Amino acid sequence: MKTLIIYYSYTKNTEKIAQKIAELKNYDILKLEPLTDYSTDYQQVVAEEEAKMNSEEIVALKPINVDLKQYDRIILGTPVWWYTMAPVVRSFLHTHNLNDKQVIVFITNGGWLGHTVNDIKKYCEIESYINLPFNGDKIKDAQALSDWINSL
Ligand SMILES: Cc1cc2nc3c(=O)[nH]c(=O)nc-3n(C[C@H](O)[C@H](O)[C@H](O)COP(=O)(O)O)c2cc1C
Repeated sequence: MKTLIIYYSYTKNTEKIAQKIAELKNYDILKLEPLTDYSTDYQQVVAEEEAKMNSEEIVALKPINVDLKQYDRIILGTPVWWYTMAPVVRSFLHTHNLNDKQVIVFITNGGWLGHTVNDIKKYCEIESYINLPFNGDKIKDAQALSDWINSL
C-alpha cells in the first residue's frame, strides 16, 4: 500500500507532525499552499477568518505536482480554523476525489475541534481520525501521537 501525507499548516504544528510521520514511516509528503499567502500577522488572520466562519470558503491553491493516482492511502493533516478544517484543506478536498483511497486524518487544534470531522466527511469517507490538541506550539499528548504513528 503506497501512502502520501497531505497537509496544510499556517504556524507549523501540523507541519511538524506531517514531517515526523514522513520521517518515521518513510512516506511521501505533500504540502498544500494557498495561491495567495495569508498575512504573517496571526491575529489578523484569526479575525479575518472569524468573519468568514461558516462560509465554507474555497481558496485558490498553488498547483499540486504529485500524481495522486500512485497512492492507495492518504494521511491528511489540517489545523482547525474556526471549528472546521482550514480553507486550504477544504479547497483541496473540493477539487480532488479521494473516494478510491483509504483516508486517515490528523487534526491539530487548541482544544476546540468543533465540527471538523463531519465537515471532512462531506468530501470523502474517512477510515479514522486523530484529534491532536496543542497548547500553543506544544502538543498536549505526545505519547498519543507516537502510539498513533506506530499504529499506521
Ligand atoms: C484562523 C485560525 C482559527 C483557529 N480556530 C481554532 C478553533 O476553532 N479551534 C481550535 O481549537 N483552535 C483554533 N485555532 C488554533 C489552531 O487550530 C492550532 O493552533 C493549530 O495547531 C495550528 O496548526 P498549524 O500550526 O499547523 O497552522 C485557530 C487558528 C487560526 C490561525
